[in-house]
Order: sequence, then C-alpha cells, then structure tokens
Amino acid sequence: MSQLLIKNGKVILGQDAKIESVDLLIKDKTITEIRPNIDYKELENNNENITVIDASEKLVSPGFIQTHLHFCQTLFRGSADDLELLDWLRLRVWPMEASHNPASLSASTLLSLGELIKSGTTSALTMETVHHTETVLEVVEKTGFRATIGKCMMDKGYGVPSRLSEKTKDSLNASLDLIKSWKSESGRVSCCFAPRFAISCTQELLETISKIAQENNLLIHTHASENLKEIEVVQNETGLRNVEYLQKVGLAGKNIALAHCVHVNEYEQRILAETGTHVLHCPSSNLKLGSGLAPITEMLELGVSVSIGADGAPCNNNLDMFKEMRLAALLQKMRYGSSSLPAKKAFYLATLAGAKALGLEEKIGSIEVGKTADIIIVNLNQLHSTPTPDLLSALVYSANASDVETVIIDGQILMYKRELKTLDEKEIIAKANKEYSELVKRAGI
Ligand code: GUN
Ligand code: FE
Repeated sequence: MSQLLIKNGKVILGQDAKIESVDLLIKDKTITEIRPNIDYKELENNNENITVIDASEKLVSPGFIQTHLHFCQTLFRGSADDLELLDWLRLRVWPMEASHNPASLSASTLLSLGELIKSGTTSALTMETVHHTETVLEVVEKTGFRATIGKCMMDKGYGVPSRLSEKTKDSLNASLDLIKSWKSESGRVSCCFAPRFAISCTQELLETISKIAQENNLLIHTHASENLKEIEVVQNETGLRNVEYLQKVGLAGKNIALAHCVHVNEYEQRILAETGTHVLHCPSSNLKLGSGLAPITEMLELGVSVSIGADGAPCNNNLDMFKEMRLAALLQKMRYGSSSLPAKKAFYLATLAGAKALGLEEKIGSIEVGKTADIIIVNLNQLHSTPTPDLLSALVYSANASDVETVIIDGQILMYKRELKTLDEKEIIAKANKEYSELVKRAGI
C-alpha cells in the first residue's frame, strides 16, 4: 500500500471549510488521518512506499470540481469568438464537432486535462460530441483524472449538420451501448446521459432517457435556459417555459444537472429547488456569449443546488476554476450588492456543491477522514496574494491558476511542483496544433 504524508500545511477542512494547521495521511486513495505532527517515523511500513510532501506555508485544499465542461471543444478555443449562442453553435461549434475523429478528440481531451490539472481542477462533469465518446473515456481513465462523461444526444433539427443528427432510436442505443460497455478499472471515470438541449432533442428521447436514468441511477447532463432565443423556441414548440417543459418530460430531480439556467423565472426557480435539480453556473460563458446574468443569489436563497463550470473553451476561453469562482462572486455583487456570494460560498460552489451535483459528496469535495484524496496544494506566498489575513479570500479573490503546485487525484500525484506526472505538456501542445489545423480543413471553416 502506498502512503502519502502531507506535512505542515494550512488545510481547508471539512464541510464548513475551517482552516487548521494539520498533517494529512493518505493510504492508497483514502485520507486516513488528520492531526498535527504526524511523524514519518511512527508510520507502519517504515521506509516503504511513503512519500512526504512538505506543504509549509502553503494552503491545502480540496481539488476544484467543475460541473460543466466539453473536452471535445477545447480544440476550438479561439475559433468561435464574439457570437451569440445559436450562431456560435451553427456556424462554428457544430461544424467543428462534426469534423472530429478519434485523433483530434484525443488531442482535445489531453489539452483539456493538462489545463485542468495545472489549474487545480480534479473532477469534471462533461458533455462530449455525438461520436467517438469512448476515446474521451479512455484518455481520461489513462490520465488519472476523475470525470463523469456523456455522449451528446441530438435527434432534432435547428441547423444541426447531418453527421451530428441522429435518429431517436440510434441516439438511445449509442448512449446505452457506451454506458453498458464502459468499464473504468479505477472507478474514477463514469458515463451519463447528455441530451444537448431541449431544442435539439425530441420529447420522446427526453422521456425515454428520464425513465432509464431513474431505473439505473444515472445522471442526466443537459443545457437549459441559457439564451433568450433558445427559450423562445422551446416556448413556441411546447407552450411552456424551458424548465417547466423539462420537468414535464421527467428532467427535474436529484439526478438532473442543468447547465446555465440564466433565464429562469421564480416559478422555474422553485421547480429547481423543490426537485433538487442541480444548476451548473458558467459565469464566463454567460458573459462571452452575451447570454445574460444568472440569478444565482435568488436560486441559492430558494435552496437550489448550484455549482460551477467553465463550459467549452470556445466560449470562455479558458478552463480555469480560479477565474470562474472569482467571476461567479463578482457578478452576484454587481447584481445584488457587495455582500452577496462571499468567498466562502464561492469556494463551496467550486468544491462540495460540485461533488453533490455528481452524486459523489460522500467521496470527494472536502478534506475529511474516510474521503478520497482529491487534493491541491496552493502557494499563496506570491506578490499578487500577499498579505493573507484570510486564506479563503486569498484563494478566491487573489490567487491564480499558476499558484497551484501539487495536484493529487485518487491518492495519486498528478502534478508535483508544477510538473505534470502523467502528461507531457510539450507533446500535448504539439498534438493539439497539428490536429487543430487538420480539423479546420475538414470542417471547411
Ligand atoms: N447549448 C447547446 N449546446 C451548447 C454548447 O455546446 N455550449 C453551450 N454553452 N450551450 C449549448
Ligand atoms: Fe455547454
């Protein structure tokens, strides 16, 4: 059994994020002891497989959990700027997704994972494209990252290129085949359903997914109420507000994760709260696509479960949780005053709330004995974060992604002193550039 001892750090502990100077002992994947002065010499298996990390003067935090990402889109970074959602999809993102092959998708996934690990994200909920999702699952499994991944489902119109357009039955079968055949040796990587959004899915598809997901305890990850034109289409087609319609077809509940929810009225917010539906807030994406300002403060007051994601690289253009967490807090202050969404709450949305959305709150999201070790070590001893009268404030409002020094996922060190252990940065960049130029030619844009 491998043992990992993190010594002398300032550790963000438990569900209420209290900071204490303690050492952490990790056996295999699990945090087994939290107390001051755990002595290397008192550990069993002395000298064998014990790695000691000195975290003196550093902050030890649960890793960030992003609940809305598209690994397949990371290769489209910078290729779809300054467009609103429906044009962004039709003119750029869909043609590029349609042009993915396993090699380009692998390059896009590796690029995502490199950026995420280097910026302290340890888990993700992702929606991929219609094809080749097995490639994403395999690459994530191999890297040591933790993710719940869905094959995108689209069985209805609105400018969808033919290669992404599926028959209802084929879409269901392809998702089910993937879910049934996927075996994660590590247990870190799992599958979910990912119908794209109401306007590209038939009612039959959504109702069937809802039923199967409930019977098999599966998560459903989709987009909802992001853009005014999108909700207008839903309203015209169904006579209902988007969230109302989703509830009607069975997409409201604790296993449902809705990205965005920017334009949700009070009635819809109450549906989200009462059903335990998870809202995945994407502040940068909402600003860049000009989608709007999500009523996060109101939803939190009503008891809605809210967590955070960067969304796709072409609408952000980074996958950096430090930027999202800070922006999430600042945006609510602009709307509701300076005391709304304080640092501690923003930190909660970026960690434990994400674990809840993934249904993994017993396992990850906080540093506690018995939980799995998904941990980051952050060096706040920097010009831009000094002094640090309040370490959570420093983490949320002043720290940068590059302050993350060490990343541990499932008890395995994936980055040490900013060096990636399971990935080669130069190779990732070279592959991404090569695959990008070939994909753009295939896409004809
Ligand atoms: N709505 C439907 N598809 C997408 C997507 O890929 N990204 C975003 N931001 N919204 C969407
Ligand atoms: Fe998205």
